[in-house]
Amino acid sequence: MTTYKVALYPGDGIGIDVVAEAVKVLRAAEVRFGFKLELTEFDWGHRYWQRTGQVAPVDFLEKLKPFDAIFLGAVGDPANLPDHITLVPLIRIRQSFDQYVCLRPAQLLAGVRSPLAGRVPDDVDIMVVRENSEGEYVDAGGTFSAGRQEEVSLQTAVHTRKGVERILRYSFDLARTRRRHLTMATKSNAMKYSMVMWDRILADVAHDYPDVKTDKCHIDALCMNLVLRPERYDVIIGSNLFGDILSDLGGAIAGSLGLAPSANINPERTFPSLFEPVHGSAPDIAGKGIANPLAAIRSAAMMLDFLGQPDAAQCIETAVRQNLSAGAVRTPDLGGHHTTVQVGDDIVVRVNG
Ligand code: NAD
Ligand code: IPM
Ligand code: MN
Repeated sequence: MTTYKVALYPGDGIGIDVVAEAVKVLRAAEVRFGFKLELTEFDWGHRYWQRTGQVAPVDFLEKLKPFDAIFLGAVGDPANLPDHITLVPLIRIRQSFDQYVCLRPAQLLAGVRSPLAGRVPDDVDIMVVRENSEGEYVDAGGTFSAGRQEEVSLQTAVHTRKGVERILRYSFDLARTRRRHLTMATKSNAMKYSMVMWDRILADVAHDYPDVKTDKCHIDALCMNLVLRPERYDVIIGSNLFGDILSDLGGAIAGSLGLAPSANINPERTFPSLFEPVHGSAPDIAGKGIANPLAAIRSAAMMLDFLGQPDAAQCIETAVRQNLSAGAVRTPDLGGHHTTVQVGDDIVVRVNG
């Protein structure tokens, strides 16, 4: 039987609750589709920090490397530990494992109400591709004279031709499998080195994809357009930070961040890829049992698809869509009154068939 080794990193807050539901669904898919998941859980994050004074062991990358995939809930417990400490392992995993593609689909599904007035299913059907290995998130900078009047901080973004070109090619190829329209987020009116280079590389690479409609839009106007005219967009590619911002916006206009899945992919498969919901640990609702587990469950489906179980992935995604269109079992973010566990149970019943 095909076996996959998956590292579970539930993290903090609602990350722990939604991973538990995704695991239930994965177990149901395993039985129905005849493969095996060997799951190993790591309690890294605030819990690990309380025991050891670190958020993860120093050799966390070596520990993760042998796995076929990593499944993460959410990290961050800002009331107890500064985010820039808790989140280090996540960013290190993405960069060290060269997970340079981050896919974040946002689609308004039947049975879900968008906060945008009058929008119906498929008015929003976007794939945000986020450059995930460099850009604004590289660890380059420093703080001098911290806390003093003369304090100075530097945070340097690094954009490379290789990094930009490979993510643009990936995005063009992806657009070819969808509606053949690629929009690049830019800000070359103000960022006259990095974003001007992105613009130039886009123009170069676009020559190889004459069948894909290509345009670019400044990130500020793009945010506005996504609210006013979401139907205009198909694949949107953004730098690490732009992609981060666009993916929360995408989740919101598609009805809830609690529905937004994501995949951090190393396309060459040299390293494990990481799957996680777009959302964070949601301290405002943590411990209440009302987090929507569907973003995590859909991320688990993306993981199975990537691992080579497309039928199981499709079955889970179909179960989620059936749950949404039925509208009977849903968490408060979608206007319901059910719990995280009840929604997970509903998906399991549907996956069992
Ligand atoms: P967040 O995504 O955790 O929450 C934003 C809002 O969306 C909150 O009101 C929250 O209740 C709601 N929400 C999020 N997920 C939901 C779900 N599944 N069901 C229902 N409602 C949901 O963002 P934040 O509040 O800015 O960040 C909280 C913590 O999470 C911080 O420590 C932050 O750094 C961290 N964070 C981690 C990740 C990650 O692990 N990938 C992503 C984003 C934020
Ligand atoms: C995300 C999160 C992370 C990011 C944080 C937690 C570092 O917001 O996955 O979208 O900015 O990449
Ligand atoms: Mn984010």
